[in-house]
Amino acid sequence: MENQSGASVPFWVKGVSYTDTQKLKDNVTCDVCVVGGGIAGLTTAYLLAKEGKRVVLLEAKTIGGGETGRTTAHLSNALDDGFPNLINLFGKDGARLACVSHGRAIDKIEEIAKEESIDCDFKKINGYLFANNRDQEEELMKELEAVQQIGWRDVVMRKECPVASLTALPCLQFPNQGRFHVMKYIAGLLKAFIDKGGQVYTDTKAVDFKSGTVAVVTAESGHTVASNHLVVATNTPVNDWVTMHTKQAPYRTYAIGLAVPKGEVPDALFWDMDDPYHYIRLQPAEDRGASTDLLIIGGEDHKTGQDAHPDKRFYALERWARLKFPMAQEVEYRWSGQVYEPVDRLAFIGRNPGDANNVYIATGDSGHGMTHGTIAGMLLTDLIMGRKNEWEKIYDPARISLKSAGEFLKENLNVAAQMKDYVTPGEVDDPSQVMPGTGRLMRKGTTKVAVYCDADGVRHECSAVCTHLGCIVNWNNVEKSWDCPCHGSRFDPYGRVITGPASKNLDKA
Ligand SMILES: Cc1cc2nc3c(=O)[nH]c(=O)nc-3n(C[C@H](O)[C@H](O)[C@H](O)COP(=O)(O)OP(=O)(O)OC[C@H]3O[C@@H](n4cnc5c(N)ncnc54)[C@H](O)[C@@H]3O)c2cc1C
Ligand code: FES
Repeated sequence: MENQSGASVPFWVKGVSYTDTQKLKDNVTCDVCVVGGGIAGLTTAYLLAKEGKRVVLLEAKTIGGGETGRTTAHLSNALDDGFPNLINLFGKDGARLACVSHGRAIDKIEEIAKEESIDCDFKKINGYLFANNRDQEEELMKELEAVQQIGWRDVVMRKECPVASLTALPCLQFPNQGRFHVMKYIAGLLKAFIDKGGQVYTDTKAVDFKSGTVAVVTAESGHTVASNHLVVATNTPVNDWVTMHTKQAPYRTYAIGLAVPKGEVPDALFWDMDDPYHYIRLQPAEDRGASTDLLIIGGEDHKTGQDAHPDKRFYALERWARLKFPMAQEVEYRWSGQVYEPVDRLAFIGRNPGDANNVYIATGDSGHGMTHGTIAGMLLTDLIMGRKNEWEKIYDPARISLKSAGEFLKENLNVAAQMKDYVTPGEVDDPSQVMPGTGRLMRKGTTKVAVYCDADGVRHECSAVCTHLGCIVNWNNVEKSWDCPCHGSRFDPYGRVITGPASKNLDKA
C-alpha cells in the first residue's frame, strides 16, 4: 500500500494480501459503476452485487489505500460532535436516526464479517467519553441528558474512569461500540465482492463523468464504463467542482501507536472533550502477534495546509500519551491522514445535488468514516434498489440547515482568507535555499512556485497554484506533499495529484 509519509506505515497494512486486480483495458457496461475503493465504495459495491446487480468498481490506486488504510478503526455511534449539537441541528428524531444508523453500521460490519467468514478481529466493546476539567464534567451531564432524550437508555455515568490515570473525573459509558482490523476486513470484503461477480479495476483513475440516463465514466486510459447508476465514493467528490466543497472542510489528523504492558489498559474506546480532541483504543497483543498490547492514540487535528510544522503534532500526541498513560513504552507507529468535517456534522450520502437522478455521492466522513462508509453502502443500495430508507433525509447531500449557517460562513471565510497567500512573500528567494527532502514556496512575479529539493539535492519546481480553484498550496513535511488549505487537494513533491477535488497535476513553473 502506498504511503507518502516519512512516518511508519500503519500496522494494519502488514500481512494483508489483496486479491489480484487489474487496470481497465476495455469499454464495459454494467448496472452500477462505483468509483473509489475505500470502505464506502467497496461496501456499496459488495451490497449491490449481493442484490444481484452487475457492479464495476474503479479505483485510482489500491483497494483500501486511501484514508481507509489510515484509520484507527473505532466503531462508534456515540458521535463525537455530541448529541446536544445534533439535537439542535436535526431535532430529537434526526439525532436518534443518526445514532441508530451508526449502531446499525457496527452491526452490519459484524454481520458481513460473519457471513463472509472474514477474520478481522471484530469485537464489540464499551466506549468512554471522559472529562478533563470541571466545565467538561458539566458538558458530560448535558451529553447524558441528550442521549436519554433520544431514547438511548443504557448509557451510564461512571464516577471513575476504567483507566485511573486518564482522569479523576467521571465518564460516560457507551455500550456496543466496536473495533476491528480494517485491512483484514477490506481484503475479505473485496474477495466476497469478486466472488459475487463484481468486477474490480485498480490503478484506474476516473477523469471524466457524463451524467444522463446512462452515466459514462472515462478512465485516464480513455476506456469507459457505461452504467445505469453511478456512485462516486472518492472520499471527497471528484465529480463536483464547487457545491459540496463549500459544505465540508478538510482536516489533517494524527495517530501514534505505543506499546503498553499486556493487560494494563482495558480493551475499550476512549475519547475526550478537548479541542483538538484525543481518541484512544487498544489493539490487544493476541490480535497483533506480539507480547505487548498496542495503544493507539489519535488527535491533534488541524485544517489541511494550515500548519507550517505538522511534525510537532506527533510530539504533542506523545506528550499527552505519556501524561495520561505513564505505563506506555516506545512509540512503534506514527501516521497521519485526512478527514472531512461537514458544516452540520453528518455525512453527505445520497443523490448528487444538481446532477442526474442516478448519480450518487458519499462524502463528509467526519472522523466516523468506518460507520459513515458502511451507512453509505446500506443507504445507497436501498436508493438504487428503489426501496425507502428512513435515513435518506438526514444524509441528503442537498440538505440546507440555517442552524449550520454560522459554521458554513466560518469555513468559507477561512477559505477566502487563504487568498492572502497571493500577496505574502515567498519562504525562500532562491531554489538553492531549499534543503534536501523538503519543499518551500518561492515568489515569482505575481505568483508562487513550489520548489522541492530531492534527496540528491536536485530542485524541482512547479506552480504552487492549486488546480482545483486556485489557492496556493503549502508544504507538509510529515507526508512530503503539497497540501491545499482550501478544500484539501494534495499533490506529491513533484506536483502530481494524490487526492482531489483537484484532478489535474500542478502546472509546470
Ligand atoms: C488517522 C485517521 C484516523 C481515523 N480514525 C477513524 C476511526 O477511528 N473511526 C472511523 O470511523 N473513522 C476514522 N477515520 C476516518 C476514516 O478512516 C475515513 O473517513 C474513511 O476511511 C473514508 O473512507 P472512504 O471510502 O470515504 O475514502 P477512502 O478510503 O479515501 O477511499 C476513497 C478512494 O477513492 C479513490 N479515488 C479518488 N479519486 C479517484 C478517481 N478519480 N478515480 C478512481 N478512484 C479514486 C482513492 O484512491 C481512494 O482509495 C480516521 C481517519 C484518519 C486519517
Ligand atoms: S482544493 Fe480547492 S482550491 Fe485547492
